[in-house]
Amino acid sequence: KRVAVLISGRGSNMEALIAACADPAFPAGIVSVISNRADAKGLERAQAAGLSTTVIDHKAFAGREPFEAALSAHIEAVGADIICLAGFMRLLTAGFVTRWQDRMINIHPSLIPAFRGLHTHERVIEAGVRVHGCTVHFVRAEMDDGPIIVQAALPVRPDDTADSLGARVLTREHQIYPLALRLLAEGKVRVEGNRAIIDAAAD
Ligand code: GRF
Repeated sequence: KRVAVLISGRGSNMEALIAACADPAFPAGIVSVISNRADAKGLERAQAAGLSTTVIDHKAFAGREPFEAALSAHIEAVGADIICLAGFMRLLTAGFVTRWQDRMINIHPSLIPAFRGLHTHERVIEAGVRVHGCTVHFVRAEMDDGPIIVQAALPVRPDDTADSLGARVLTREHQIYPLALRLLAEGKVRVEGNRAIIDAAAD
């Protein structure tokens, strides 16, 4: 399967996907890394890995729809089958999401449906919850919503700060994103209503 990775920033999840795809046995390869910001650190990392990168700056367009039309045109031109959002900080319209329904996945640093949105680690600590984690899910028009493919949970330590907790969550993100992409690329994930079902044969 051919994957387009969309980023806006540092790109550490993208790097985890690059590392996984470097294995010839992995069922997907990255055909394009697209950033909506020219200054995204991840672009340099992708180039260093020999990948093709493109900047599609949302500010250069009159609105979400023309921006997404440019995004779609590029994604189609590179022949991607799957889109991975990896720290991509633009909301996508229902039209774009529907077009890529069940072929576009996102990673979010919480156990959704808890703590959607930004600053999850701070909010987790403020709320005093004992368990936190990360989620790879299919993208739907609602932010950080959609059928869950893989989650990883970890305990919140009494002395955790948002930074220490976030660092542990990030390590798990880097494990579950390649896992979820592999399951999807192997055709082992199907969607039934609000749920993603993993084929029983999946290991
Ligand atoms: C990650 O925490 C991811 O879960 C969230 O945005 C952050 C992106 O980090 N969606 P990186 O750019 O992958 O390093």
